[in-house]
Amino acid sequence: MRKVQVGFIGAGAFISGMHLQTVRDSENMDIRAIADLDEELLKKHSSTMQVGYTTTDYRTILDDPEIEMVIIGTKQDLHARFIIESLDAGKWVLCEKPMAETEEETQAVLNAEKRNPGKLAIGFNRRFAPSYVETKRLMQGVKRPWFINYRLMYPNPGKQEKGGFYETQPRILYEGCHILDLVCWLLEDVPTRVFMTGDKLLNNCCILDYPDGSQVSFMCGSMGSFCLWKEYMEVFANWTAITVSELADMRVRGFPGEFDRVYAPHRNERAKEVLKWGFDFYEAYKVQWMWEARNHYKEKYGMDFEQIQRPTPAPFDITKFGPEHLDLANVNPDKGWIGSVEHFARCLREGTDPDNANGKAGTTATNLANALLESLETGQPVEFKQ
Ligand SMILES: NC(=O)c1ccc[n+]([C@@H]2O[C@H](COP(=O)([O-])OP(=O)(O)OC[C@H]3O[C@@H](n4cnc5c(N)ncnc54)[C@H](O)[C@@H]3O)[C@@H](O)[C@H]2O)c1
Repeated sequence: MRKVQVGFIGAGAFISGMHLQTVRDSENMDIRAIADLDEELLKKHSSTMQVGYTTTDYRTILDDPEIEMVIIGTKQDLHARFIIESLDAGKWVLCEKPMAETEEETQAVLNAEKRNPGKLAIGFNRRFAPSYVETKRLMQGVKRPWFINYRLMYPNPGKQEKGGFYETQPRILYEGCHILDLVCWLLEDVPTRVFMTGDKLLNNCCILDYPDGSQVSFMCGSMGSFCLWKEYMEVFANWTAITVSELADMRVRGFPGEFDRVYAPHRNERAKEVLKWGFDFYEAYKVQWMWEARNHYKEKYGMDFEQIQRPTPAPFDITKFGPEHLDLANVNPDKGWIGSVEHFARCLREGTDPDNANGKAGTTATNLANALLESLETGQPVEFKQ
């Protein structure tokens, strides 16, 4: 079957380290074209992988009748505009998160989605993370309400620098939107009341109150150490409990016949060792993977790195394990990046409805983040209407 012809608009840090590699390695997709304003970057991409052509004018992508699917990887200020133009050009569109910044933009995207046959997917890839797909499967039918606790806490000093794009952007929107989408996807509902404390840009605690009594507490922030992993989810309901550490280590309790699980990292990096030695190996490997950069972080930000030492000596010598895939930007758990793009392309080819987050889900995440910011501003819970 003919491969899906993909055109990229914006191919900077994230797209270079993720979706370009996915399409490059795919049996179902070709990189037909890349548009970016940065000519050096375009040269680098076309000299390191099979690329049909490159351009500095994104309209070339929209005008190319061969291109069926557009991946938008610019920063969020251009998302709504490029989604609308790409849908109007007759393409299927996968746009990185967040879908939009304001309610007006979300409405304009929804209108474009409605008037066009092409499908829209937002880059809420966690819906395709194997550990979260499994969480959703296990929780099907478990009596409501559910109580979910989510921690997304990891330093990102580069993003916080003066003069950078994110200096004035609230993290609850550009990063928290992933989790706002995830919990609505898990619960298959939208909260009716939300509340947030903390500061405007970086560190927040949120409460989401769902109509069936389910509750989500969500800590979203930028503190901590590179030596501790970023994400932790706990789901409690009735006499069951599931915890997932870094989308990799899953503990399943209260489900007869079910057992704990460990998931291989993104692109199966060191999968053999992770599956053999479990999360202790993953945790130590993540620090080892970044070890070369420790002086940079120490000098620039005063951060300390230490090798992980657990009370019981590890059965492996972590210093012997270097990166396997040298083109990875970092070692990461499988957060569903590859699965989400492959699924969208397959649906395009087969003419079926994708399970990716659509314009409605993108709208919910943006509007929830903005409602949380309103709550922070007023110090009061905010009623949320979809
Ligand atoms: N899903 C995830 O896990 C995840 C993780 C990180 C980043 N992201 C998202 O990826 C997106 C990109 O982030 P980034 O850090 O790679 O940003 P970046 O600035 O490194 O890349 C953006 C690219 O867009 C290009 N660009 C800007 N205007 C353009 C235009 N008019 N035409 C063509 N190209 C244009 C820039 O030249 C740049 O190369 C953001 O929306 C971010 O939220 C998603």
